[in-house]
Amino acid sequence: MKLNEHFSDLQDSYLFSTIAHKVAAYQQEHPEKEIIRLGIGDVTLPLCDAVVQAMHRAVDEMGRKESFHGYGPEQGYDFVKEALQGYYAKRGVVLDLQEIFVSDGAKSDVGNILDLFSSENTVLIPDPVYPVYVDTNLMAGRKIVYLDANEQNGFLPLPDPSIKADIIYLCSPNNPTGAVYSRDQLKAWVDYARECGAVILFDAAYEAFLSDPALPRSIFEIEGAKECAIEFCSLSKTAGFTGTRCGYTVVPLALEQEGVSLNKLWLRRQTTKFNGVPYIVQRGAEAVFTEQGQRQIHKAIDYYRENARMIAGALREMGIWFTGGENSPYIWLKCPGGLSSWEYFDRLLTEANVVGTPGAGFGKNGEGFFRLTAFGDRDSTAEAVSRLKKLSLSN
Ligand code: MLT
Repeated sequence: MKLNEHFSDLQDSYLFSTIAHKVAAYQQEHPEKEIIRLGIGDVTLPLCDAVVQAMHRAVDEMGRKESFHGYGPEQGYDFVKEALQGYYAKRGVVLDLQEIFVSDGAKSDVGNILDLFSSENTVLIPDPVYPVYVDTNLMAGRKIVYLDANEQNGFLPLPDPSIKADIIYLCSPNNPTGAVYSRDQLKAWVDYARECGAVILFDAAYEAFLSDPALPRSIFEIEGAKECAIEFCSLSKTAGFTGTRCGYTVVPLALEQEGVSLNKLWLRRQTTKFNGVPYIVQRGAEAVFTEQGQRQIHKAIDYYRENARMIAGALREMGIWFTGGENSPYIWLKCPGGLSSWEYFDRLLTEANVVGTPGAGFGKNGEGFFRLTAFGDRDSTAEAVSRLKKLSLSN
């Protein structure tokens, strides 16, 4: 027996597990300290009423013989796919129901989609980046080329024609930097991908946080994207589903490689390895896209936006450089006092009892930066802001 040798290319533990362990160790040593967690992007507001009611009804249906549901379609029930079709249509994107796959979240799909591609492909990944893109490719032994995202390019790198890639990861609004590609910038990526025959894996998990209507929410708003892109999205941050689990992936029917439909391959993969999202959860997801659901989830998003404004305001006052926070729940700041990402993490944890995410955990270009999330509750965020301000005095 031989193990997958590529696991040895990974760091010992996943970024957010490492942070959780560090925080748990500190808390154990200092049980009296009240730690505020603005690290992992986990929501704090409960599911909205429209979702809760829909799931209650679904539970009742499951408890009656005549409305019970066993296995559902692996790719999701039509009622969710129709709701999503309507959601995309609002921004002029026409989707066939077959192009939509309901899943248990974007993280799983972003990793699982790699089943479709040879491990001989070259992958282009911006740095800093959501660590799942890197780790899942390392696990498969795929060659990764990194593209620098930095202050100079506003953390929005554009294609470099001298680099030849087969698979390209883009995330906009970006995790971790909060930066957002404009329509023209995304068009440059679509043109580049089509020219080199690459597939763009577009992570749109934070699209609901866009407040500027001029910015694209879906890569399929860009001409030609259906021939070169797959889009991943999630209800985790949009509707508080981090613990409920539901996302969706759009694989266009027009997307082909070597004359083979990627939609067909993904359907084959999902029907073989996945049994679908629970019926009850899918009813909850459907409710997100009703008029009432949209109103309610946007109230929660506005609440998080206000948190972001509070954090941003404090950083401005302290003269700390940052980006994000406006069209994204993440604020990406430059560590004050020339501290490294992990040094700042330790100081924040031990002196202010606030947890954030060290930028270096997202790639080498993240060194010297730090990510805070706007997903805390209001009082904790206000308290964290005041502790940050006090800490900056001692820098
Ligand atoms: C993050 O904090 O980057 C996200 O919560 C991670 C995720 O969505 O898996």
